[in-house]
Amino acid sequence: MRIYLRNGNVFTGRQWEKRDVILDGGRIAAFVPSGQGFLESDSILKANSMLDNLSVDNLSIQYERVIDCDNSFLLPGFVDIHVHLREPGYEYKETIVTGTTAGAAGGYTTLLAMPNVNPAPSNPVALEIQLAAIRKDGVVPVIPYGTITAERNGIGMLSDMDALAPYVAGFSDDGTGVQANNIIKKAMETAKALDKVIAAHCEDETLSAEGDFRRSEWIQVARDLALCKKIACKYHVCHVSTKESLRLIRQAKQEGLDVTCETAPHYLIFSEEDVQDDGRFKMNPPLMAKEDRQALIEGLADGTIDMVATDHAPHSKEEKSKGFAGSANGVVGLETAFPVLYTQLVLTGKITLERLVDALAVAPRKRFGLAGGVLEPGHPADLCIWDLKRPYHVDSETFYSKGKSTPFEGMEVLGRNLCTIVGGIVVWER
Ligand code: DOR
Repeated sequence: MRIYLRNGNVFTGRQWEKRDVILDGGRIAAFVPSGQGFLESDSILKANSMLDNLSVDNLSIQYERVIDCDNSFLLPGFVDIHVHLREPGYEYKETIVTGTTAGAAGGYTTLLAMPNVNPAPSNPVALEIQLAAIRKDGVVPVIPYGTITAERNGIGMLSDMDALAPYVAGFSDDGTGVQANNIIKKAMETAKALDKVIAAHCEDETLSAEGDFRRSEWIQVARDLALCKKIACKYHVCHVSTKESLRLIRQAKQEGLDVTCETAPHYLIFSEEDVQDDGRFKMNPPLMAKEDRQALIEGLADGTIDMVATDHAPHSKEEKSKGFAGSANGVVGLETAFPVLYTQLVLTGKITLERLVDALAVAPRKRFGLAGGVLEPGHPADLCIWDLKRPYHVDSETFYSKGKSTPFEGMEVLGRNLCTIVGGIVVWER
């Protein structure tokens, strides 16, 4: 499929450049200075004299799609390494179709799916059920995680990590911290041998049961980092929410450990002081103190927090309608991440746009060895096109996700995705 994107501002990694962009064969084939009608690069297309005249009619002869970007902004497609797509097992909350459409609408071109589904992908037979649903219905590519433990309960035996390894992004028991020290140690050793990432939900259940959520997180981060220092595996901390965890991760990075981490938009925008008696503010880990939020913003700015993942965790209306105490843990995030972070962190000068794009599109790919993340000729044509000019209010009723519970409800934001392209194919457009 050949696509011609006219009149876009392309984010080149540091700045915006006004360019037309030609996509061909799943790749970015060439840049054309907007309106000038000649090719700056790409020898194959240089010979293409049709481009001397850039009227839409002429372009239409050559290209299956000519999209007028109308001065909107082209960004590399985002990769969310922490989403809950709920299928198989909990299709009343979300399905592969609804979750991946929500992802595409949010500018995501790849999603990594957490394994708290039923059956949990702890062996190849269970994984194949999930992979079959993804092959059938995925609007954007989805790479599942395999579980760490056989029952995804953080205790007991390990999953069939060897057999899962070729098909999974890494291993996680997300939703549950690995409680037993000997199990996480064995999992790290196995992941090291398989050259796979352990993506850890850090929660010491004894402490969280007592309501001590901040210690429950950082105590387990500290335990894992100490093990990781000995084993030297690829270790990633999910949804970091406390300043103590961040400090430990910063130190581990300085010591040269192969550790990365993510936080989620809600921890960067809200603190416990914002919590209302509403399921929209209920997630695990919970919103922490103002100082934690400030530390996370600083950690994102200086790169200690490598990436932002949404922890998109849809539940039914009923499950989220029981006030703060009674509602299920988890909020949706795929359709609000970029607008919220762009409006609240970039436009306020807290982080640069370059850092945000890196955290959404570049660092996740680097950690999980995925191609793309660069808008340059020769790179995969995975991108999204944003109108950054017209403000609007977040309205969960417009979400493609079945989950509607978001702390960002009603927030005024800038940044509306117009189109998402994966492998040179338009997978979603407004
Ligand atoms: O809030 C959360 N929801 N945190 C988790 O760790 C799991 C997730 C879910 O699956 O709903």
